[in-house]
Amino acid sequence: MNVLEIKNLKVLFRTGEHFVRAVEGVDITVGEGERVAIVGESGCGKSVTSLACMRLLNTPPAYIAADALRFTAKDGTVHDLMQKPENEMLALRAEEMAMIFQDPSTFLNPVMTIGEQLDEVFIYHMNMKPKQARARSIEMMKKVGIPDPAMRAQQYPHELSGGLKQRILIAMATSCSPRLLIADEPTTALDVTIQAQILGLIRERCEKERMSLLMITHDLGVVREMAERVYVMYCGKIVETGTVDEILSAPKHPYTKALIDTIPDMEEKVDRFVQIPHNVPHPMHKPEGCYFSNRCAYCTALCRKKQPPLFDRGDGRLVRCYYQTEELWEK
Ligand SMILES: Nc1ncnc2c1ncn2[C@@H]1O[C@H](COP(=O)(O)OP(=O)(O)O)[C@@H](O)[C@H]1O
Ligand SMILES: [Mg+2]
Repeated sequence: MNVLEIKNLKVLFRTGEHFVRAVEGVDITVGEGERVAIVGESGCGKSVTSLACMRLLNTPPAYIAADALRFTAKDGTVHDLMQKPENEMLALRAEEMAMIFQDPSTFLNPVMTIGEQLDEVFIYHMNMKPKQARARSIEMMKKVGIPDPAMRAQQYPHELSGGLKQRILIAMATSCSPRLLIADEPTTALDVTIQAQILGLIRERCEKERMSLLMITHDLGVVREMAERVYVMYCGKIVETGTVDEILSAPKHPYTKALIDTIPDMEEKVDRFVQIPHNVPHPMHKPEGCYFSNRCAYCTALCRKKQPPLFDRGDGRLVRCYYQTEELWEK
């Protein structure tokens, strides 16, 4: 059963006279208890996709269309996210589909203590009395590995490190045991050593609470750690999807291959920093045919002329490329 089902999602932004096509007909599903990733370089539409699902985009400037945007709650109720009034979305966001972001500071109130902010979740969404809520807050802080939680509860956000703040956000997001956790680049702003701990914590919370995870990242290394299935996104479109094992061991799209080549190789002694040539095109100036054609080493005249569809290979893999072959990689 799918917890989240996105069908043909399109998001436009109006900027002055023009429309920017940020997301161009994306299909994504997240199954019950499944860990799914969306990966792609900055600007490819990952955040906009997840914010559209959470209904956190301002409309206008955003214009959202979808054939389906459905969420199945803990009690089995199917919610049409396109039609939900804002007050119902508020409850859904806290109790059923929670989100954590790259920069925890922007989501913590600087003039309230950590404890007060966590207590609010239990007071508003679980009808607890303040004392009971504080006990739960401290219990939650323990669960996310915060040492000396009673002391930390009395501190303000600026007194905590980035890693501790992200732990608090994870505590807040998972305190109502949501069905789905969306994590948008949750470790990008943190030190490398802290990153692994936070990723481990997110995985542990997902397993303990039987939450589904939609992990958003630019880093295939994070995908390898966190997800079972992955959608590779480029310029607002899905270009490849499959299981993480299959995609990492046998990429079929040149963009996926290029992303894999940018994963730093821990074994390799020499410093290697591979970059995909050229930049992601500006959404107002996407190439005529395949959006990756101007950066692709295997591009042909057909690719420049006509946008490839998302080919169904019949083996659970979908690939938006005319060639879809690893033989190309050897050349
Ligand atoms: N409020 C906005 N107004 C105009 N364009 C936007 C807005 N938000 C995002 N975009 C554009 O949508 C595209 C996708 O952005 P985003 O989803 O944030 O990328 P990602 O998360 O993959 O880095 C980008 O080209 C970005 O410039
Ligand atoms: Mg983003």
